Amino acid sequence: MIRYEEGTAIVTGGLRGIGAAIVRLLAAGGSSVAIIDMAEEDKAQETVKQFRAELTRPGSEIRYYRCDVSDFEASKAVVAQISKEMEKLTMLVNNAGITRDGLILTMSEQQFDDVISVNLKGAFNMIKHCSRQFMKNKFGRIVNISSVSGLSGNAGQANYSASKAGLVGLTKTVAREFASKNITCNAIAPGFIQTDMTKDISAENNPLASQIPLGRPGTPDDIAKAADFLLSSGYITGVVLRVDGGLGM
Ligand SMILES: NC(=O)c1ccc[n+]([C@@H]2O[C@H](COP(=O)([O-])OP(=O)(O)OC[C@H]3O[C@@H](n4cnc5c(N)ncnc54)[C@H](O)[C@@H]3O)[C@@H](O)[C@H]2O)c1
Repeated sequence: MIRYEEGTAIVTGGLRGIGAAIVRLLAAGGSSVAIIDMAEEDKAQETVKQFRAELTRPGSEIRYYRCDVSDFEASKAVVAQISKEMEKLTMLVNNAGITRDGLILTMSEQQFDDVISVNLKGAFNMIKHCSRQFMKNKFGRIVNISSVSGLSGNAGQANYSASKAGLVGLTKTVAREFASKNITCNAIAPGFIQTDMTKDISAENNPLASQIPLGRPGTPDDIAKAADFLLSSGYITGVVLRVDGGLGM
């Protein structure tokens, strides 16, 4: 079923995990997708080839662009390139994220700066560079992938929690600044989702996992469905949607 009108969605960190599940749902919904990630071109093209099988609308396409979202100038150049090479820009999913965990007493300045640069500044960079295109098209749908760590804090994740809380403030400010231009901006706060990022934390040895009321960790598809919902709605803006199996109630 085609849910999206003609246009391109940018998904950062779209080669694996939650980002890859979002790419698949967007392609299945009829959108073209520009994936921004850090992998080598050869490795990425293998994955992109598999994603192309999900495309449902004639003329839509999936392309890969290698870029570090924390680099202001590089992300500006890549958005300009996507705008030139693909259908008009309609959606942006800021999903790229990293962890560099440690207690505050042992966390280095570098660990703190790296996480803020990718998770928070990367989203700012992408929103700033895409917003002119959205304004020109009088249409834009933005989803930022935050975390329950940003809402409740998490010992050992001062950098990560601060970056994800920052995304909440960024989301609400973008929602307010651009609402009159038919540009919406929302955030998703996933709980414990099984991906490469969490592969070293088994559900058994994670104390949080045993407290999930729905009794299981989430899957990338659980988050993709929430992103699909927020991206296809035109009357929801500035919300933070927890998708955490009830963990944060
Ligand atoms: N997995 C979880 O439990 C969980 C929970 C809450 C929030 N999240 C958030 O969801 C998002 C996706 O998480 P995931 O578990 O799929 O992670 P993942 O590590 O499996 O995938 C992240 C992707 O982002 C890419 N990436 C990293 N730094 C980048 C950069 N500077 N520029 C471009 N791409 C970059 C990686 O190459 C990778 O493909 C992240 O923002 C993460 O913080 C995850």
